Parts: sequence; C-alpha cells; structure tokens
Amino acid sequence: MATNDVLAVHGGTPLQGRIRVRGAKNLVSKAMVAALLGDAPSRLFDVPRIRDVEVVRGLLELHGVRVSDGGEDGELVFDPANVERASTDEINVHAGSSRIPILFCGPLLHRLGHAFIPDLGGCHIGPRPIDFHLQALREFGAVVEKTPEGLHLTAPNGLRGTKFELPYPSVGATEQVLLTAVMAEGVTELRNAAVEPEIVDLICILQKMGAIITVHTDRVIEIQGVPRLSGYTHRPIPDRIEAASWAAAALATRGDVEVLGAEQGDMMTFLNVFRSVGGAYEITDPRAPRAGHPGQEGGIRFWHPGGELKATALETDVHPGFMTDWQQPLVVALTQARGLSIVHETVYEQRLGYTEALNKMGATIQVYRDCLGGTPCRFGRRNFNHSAVIAGPSKLHAADLVIPDLRAGFSHLIAALAAEGTSRVYGVDLINRGYEDFEAKLAALGAHVERP
Ligand code: EPZ
Repeated sequence: MATNDVLAVHGGTPLQGRIRVRGAKNLVSKAMVAALLGDAPSRLFDVPRIRDVEVVRGLLELHGVRVSDGGEDGELVFDPANVERASTDEINVHAGSSRIPILFCGPLLHRLGHAFIPDLGGCHIGPRPIDFHLQALREFGAVVEKTPEGLHLTAPNGLRGTKFELPYPSVGATEQVLLTAVMAEGVTELRNAAVEPEIVDLICILQKMGAIITVHTDRVIEIQGVPRLSGYTHRPIPDRIEAASWAAAALATRGDVEVLGAEQGDMMTFLNVFRSVGGAYEITDPRAPRAGHPGQEGGIRFWHPGGELKATALETDVHPGFMTDWQQPLVVALTQARGLSIVHETVYEQRLGYTEALNKMGATIQVYRDCLGGTPCRFGRRNFNHSAVIAGPSKLHAADLVIPDLRAGFSHLIAALAAEGTSRVYGVDLINRGYEDFEAKLAALGAHVERP
C-alpha cells in the first residue's frame, strides 16, 4: 500500500446532492472482451474510468486490438482487425489484478487457437474457484494445461457446441459459456445459467454482433453458433451496485442523494429492502420530467426521511434476489436501525469479515456459521461465518480502518462518513477498481474528506 493511500474522513455530515453513475463495471469489462470476437470495430459508450477497465484495455492491446477514445466522453472504440498472440511475460504483468482475464479463453481460442491466462485477481471474499469455467471449456473441446505461470489453452479440433449444466448459476461461468458458444460449431444448451441484468446486456451486445441466443424459462440459455460476428455499438446498463452503494451512504448518513443514471428495473429488489428499512426514494424518470426540471436526466433519489430506521432480515442470492454486492454498504445503514437485523450471505462464503471493523467503530454485529433467517445454503455445514445479526441502533465513532476488498471498502467509507470524529481509511485506492471518481463524488455530496 502506498503511503499516501489513505483518506481522512471527518464524519457526521449527511451526504447531500447529485452524482451520476456510468456503465456497469460488471458489464463493461465483459463487453470489452466481446469486442475481440468481431471482425469489425465495436463502440462502447459510458465506460467508467476505473482500474478494471484499464486492466482489460491493457490485455486487449497486448493482443493486437487497437483501443481508442471515441468522440463522446466515456466512449471507447475497439478495432480487432489485427488480433495476435501476446507473450506470456507481457500478459503476466496483469497477473493478480482482476478476474476478467479468464473470460478471454473462448474469444482467443476462436481468434488464435490458443489462449494464455495469467493468475487471476479480484476481491478476496472466498476461494472463488474457476472449476465451472474450465469444465465448460473442456466440454467445448478445449485442452487446458495448468502451469506455474498460468493456464495455456488450445483447441486442436476446434470448439463445438455442447450441453452443459452449471452446478450453481455462476455469473462468470455463464459469461464464459456465452463468449465461447457464440462462435462454436453447432448448438449449445446451458442449464442453471445466471440471468443477471449484466448477462442479459451482454447477450444484447452479442446479438448486435450477429449471435443467435435464446433465453428460455428456468435458467436455460440456448446458443446457436455462427461462423462470424461483426462489431457492436452499445450503451451499457448503468452500474446498479454503485447506485445502491450511494443509496446506502445517503441512508446511513441521514442524507439525500440523487443518483443520476440509476434504473429502477435493475434495482427492484434493492428498492424493496431500502423502503422496508425506512429509507425513502423517488424515481426521477426522464420520460416524466418534473416541474422545474424540464428535460433533466433521470435517476433515483434516495433519502433518510427522518425518525428511526427499522430492522430487517435479508438473504443475498443470484438475480432476481438481493445482490451480494449490495450487502456490505447496506449493513452500515442497518447498524442505525432499531432492533435485530439478520443477513444471510449465500453467494460468497467469506463476505462478512468487514463487520469486525464496524464493531470497532461501535456497531454490534455477531457473525454465525449457521444459515440464519432463510433456507439452508451451500455454506451451511461448512464452517463458514456467513450469517450476521446486527443489533441497532449504534452510535458509530471514528476509527483507523484498512480496506479489505472493493465493496467492503465502500462500506468502511460509509461507516466513516456516518461516524462522529475523524477516521483514517487506509487502502482507499482499491475503491478506484470499481467506483469512478469517488473522491470527486464525495466532495460533490458535501463530504469532508482529504488526503492527509
Ligand atoms: C461476478 O463475479 C461479479 N464480478 C462479482 O462482483 C459479483 O459479486 C458476482 O458476479 C455475483 O453477482 C464480475 O462481474 C467481475 P460467480 P463472479 O461466478 O462471476 C462460485 C464486485 O465487487 N463459483 O457468480 O466471479 C463462487 O465461488 C464483484 O463487483 C464456483 O464455485 O461470481 C461463488 O461462490 C465481487 N466455481 C459463486 O459461484 C466457479 O467456477 C458465484 O460466483 C465459478 C464460481
């Protein structure tokens, strides 16, 4: 961690104002990989300036894709005319920096017949294996060789469509199958697929490129392989994780924040929980301009309406459930709710470690190995602290905090903003992995923060 990688946060001021979210991190990075499959340039709008985008851009450029800025702020153009093999040493510069490189497998096998994937990075929120990815790739006919430097993949007989059922609706493994199946020979049927809005948006992109993909009921996706794909022009769905993070910050600090660009449809489950704990929101729909705000961009305004927040029970789940990435920011607001709130984390086995820091600040959170408040999940009998009981309301006080991962990091930031006194939050640069210009946004919302 660099010595200046710290933020002094003077807490106790409600966040107030308006900020804007751009394209979803967890779609944009995949859309960039999809551009590799085309035989013509692709254009992507609303790309946030975040670390994950830089990593994928670097990997694309190493493989001969020309990436340039388009005419609009946040527009990127990808020209895959000269896709070529990159050296393992150069690729390894990106080792440990993101999980997206694993999604290069299918597109590189189609374009070059070979793929090298460095060690993956990403947040440490559980073991995060890639067994589903590798199993699926082998079903398509890929040969995977694991070496100390990374994974080497080849497809000696090409890639052929297959029938595959995921043991769990993994987002990444579903994307892996989509990005591979679109140009594999024949039909692929994927069962128990993830159907997150980011996946549906990726399907829209692939369809624009010429793919034939049908989403059936009950998590079944059918892909008819095609021999070639062209480029795409796409404006991605907005970042619903970032939007919910700012919503939780508004609630925890008793503030009022309008998140321009946020969309109701992708956030329905979050909005229901937000309202049931006592938060207020208003959809500021651009199609129904409000008096005095003609033609203004729409979004969602989130605020604390006064009085006490109410405890709640929630369980994280795959879409359309409550997203695991919404959990950590919202828990900070739950420390301010009267009564006992229960959170059952069913997506990642180790995503509650950050609650220790909140306890240090005065919260009362107890974690349990049992599946609390919901149906038993995969982690029930496996000794993981994956349920939490939050007793509130608790007065939070300032502390020195070290950010463990991206979403937990944002929750630390919210806690520091809600607490009385000056906290020092170390490792804040990690937040740049997924939140564009977060320091400028904090300033726009009236937060008192500075790099000491
Ligand atoms: C994506 O991760 C997101 N990352 C995560 O966001 C998000 O939390 C997650 O989906 C769930 O919504 C990106 O899109 C870059 P998974 P991904 O495969 O695809 C297990 C953030 O902060 N699993 O759906 O890696 C896995 O261990 C990040 O923005 C296997 O066992 O998630 C986990 O328990 C954090 N084997 C569960 O499935 C596999 O081969 C869900 O993981 C793959 C996954």
